[in-house]
Amino acid sequence: MTATNERGSVRELRRTPQNASRESEVAARPADTPAIVSIKDLTKTYASGLQALKPINLDIKRGEIFALLGPNGAGKTTLISIICGIVNPTSGSVIADGHDILSDYREARAKIGLVPQELTTDRWETVWNTTSFSRGLFGRPRNPAYLEKVLRDLSLWDKRKDQLQTLSGGMKRRVMIAKALAHEPTILFLDEPSAGVDVELRRDMWQLVRRLRDSGVTIILTTHYIDEAEEMADRIGVINKGELILVENKATLMKKLGKKQLTLHLAEPMAQVPSELAEYNLTLKNDGYELEYVFDANAEHKGIAALLRRMSDLSLTYKDLNTSQSSLEDIFVSLVTDRTGKKS
Ligand SMILES: Nc1ncnc2c1ncn2[C@@H]1O[C@H](COP(=O)(O)OP(=O)(O)OP(=O)(O)O)[C@@H](O)[C@H]1O
Ligand SMILES: [Mg+2]
Repeated sequence: MTATNERGSVRELRRTPQNASRESEVAARPADTPAIVSIKDLTKTYASGLQALKPINLDIKRGEIFALLGPNGAGKTTLISIICGIVNPTSGSVIADGHDILSDYREARAKIGLVPQELTTDRWETVWNTTSFSRGLFGRPRNPAYLEKVLRDLSLWDKRKDQLQTLSGGMKRRVMIAKALAHEPTILFLDEPSAGVDVELRRDMWQLVRRLRDSGVTIILTTHYIDEAEEMADRIGVINKGELILVENKATLMKKLGKKQLTLHLAEPMAQVPSELAEYNLTLKNDGYELEYVFDANAEHKGIAALLRRMSDLSLTYKDLNTSQSSLEDIFVSLVTDRTGKKS
């Protein structure tokens, strides 16, 4: 399946109730839940002439975790920066929780929390002050109880009186999250939240993000860690060279594009794949000791049993076999490479 074909499937998927207890709430809404972020024909050409975003059309559903994947320079930060009002769009529009990001900038911005890719912290400031200052910037009334909860959730409460310069990199990143949450946004952008954080903090952060989603915050994150998207996201968007080449429900994406692979560890090495097995997509690996069969994950029933029978008829024996399924990483790499290959 080529990426070009995939473009045809860029579409919004019906929102389904997450669990039965929320059914009445969902039923009370219109059938087609309005998007919390609605991006229409958005483009960006920097002064240098570089077109960082080709027309982007994307709706983010209220309450979802949306992961934006793409190689370096794809346009992820540009897209986020436009929505957050840091970069001006060249054309197009964005509505964030009911507010146009250009004509209704203040209201739109107040709905948004941003954890930027680059850490920008005021070294001399304390954790508590920097967080409450952020809240004040948005004109929100003081609410020490809320800020305490945010800091406790991020395991920063004990550090509240410490200057930022005395914190570790991972703690600073958590302070950035606290700052982004200080004004109680409904939409939270996390630009590369896992860059430079250790495994344990990543796990903590994932938990925190899930808790935030459960509390009603919509999350949009960019990541280079495919396992992060695989673990966290409800939907995935793939952006490459400024173009949104795919938007899909994660489970559907993995099912649709997933390939399965069967590896047979042969008793005797083969010099070449026997002509009797030519109809199968087989490759010899490991000096002829391994026979690899790649097949569509959705059509597994038709292949394996017949192949093994045919091998037995040919008196080809194997010592062991194992199967694996392509990961989101394989899918992502193949999507982006397809495109790059076509263009070069
Ligand atoms: N201020 C700017 N002026 C000119 N070009 C820029 C500017 N900011 C970004 N670009 C260019 O726009 C393109 C997209 O950059 P962007 O930072 O959005 O990518 P990204 O997907 O976030 O990449 P990364 O994964 O490395 O963070 C790149 O080619 C980049 O060089
Ligand atoms: Mg970026």
